[in-house]
Amino acid sequence: MDAVLVDPLCALFEEPADSDNLGLGVDPAWGSDAGCADHEGHHVHDYDLNVLSVPDEQNPFIAFGLRRECMSKKRGVFIVFEGIDGSGKSTHVRLLFQKLQRRGFDALSTAEPTRTSIGRLIRESIQTPSSQVPPEAEALLFAADRLNHVKRLIEPALAAGRIVLSDRYVHSSLAYQGERGLNLEWIRSINRFAPRADLSIYLDIPPEVGIKRMQRRKKTVFETLTLQQRIRELYLRFVEEGELLLINGNRTVTEVQQDIREAVFNLLKEKELTPSN
Ligand SMILES: Nc1ncnc2c1ncn2[C@@H]1O[C@H](COP(=O)(O)OP(=O)(O)O)[C@@H](O)[C@H]1O
Ligand SMILES: [Mg+2]
Repeated sequence: MDAVLVDPLCALFEEPADSDNLGLGVDPAWGSDAGCADHEGHHVHDYDLNVLSVPDEQNPFIAFGLRRECMSKKRGVFIVFEGIDGSGKSTHVRLLFQKLQRRGFDALSTAEPTRTSIGRLIRESIQTPSSQVPPEAEALLFAADRLNHVKRLIEPALAAGRIVLSDRYVHSSLAYQGERGLNLEWIRSINRFAPRADLSIYLDIPPEVGIKRMQRRKKTVFETLTLQQRIRELYLRFVEEGELLLINGNRTVTEVQQDIREAVFNLLKEKELTPSN
């Protein structure tokens, strides 16, 4: 029996030596479409954990739990990137991830909505201009996607001592579904399972800049602009309430990345997380 007790969790998250996958190495048995590009074609971790269809006795989380080495590891650090479209989230998650790796940290890059079936449902049925999905249903779907993300990927990675970088998290729901008129406390309540990030970085840019950067416009500029303005106002409210750290994203990539690294490395120091962790 002992021989079978290879650490399923650590094995599951082991990166193949030659992999350029920015996220976790995924056991092929758990998801065949593990790749490394997000819906915008950016290079992030892709996973499709068909865990829910795996019998409990075969589910390493349930069957084995965490191996002692993992259990004794210092908890990792959870860093989230927020901001309107074109603010630079994907760019900076990628640059930070590369920097952390070069410094020898065990990092994981991920994004919401995820590439699981729930995330795909969101992209296919909600993020299309013709969709008539009520905002409440939209908020619930995002929360369901997040719950899966947290339980299956984020929490286990943090327990294994990794640095988790997420492109969007709870404040995206608060800003985007809040913009659609939903009560913020209700959005918070359906997301209450979600652990608070150790650092939530909000990349602030004027919507005009975001639109210019994104180039592709599904809606008219006016609609997009007003919408993005309202979303930005909500984000700024969360900054004022101390929930997000504002970094001015309307500068060169190098300047923005420098501020991000400063905040992140200060946090790692404070948490005493070292590359050898
Ligand atoms: N500081 C910046 N200055 C100029 N262009 C940028 C900057 N940050 C990102 N970009 C570019 O803007 C576009 C959107 O950036 P991206 O990282 O995809 O934003 P998001 O993920 O927040 O939507 C990309 O083409 C990216 O290369
Ligand atoms: Mg992006």
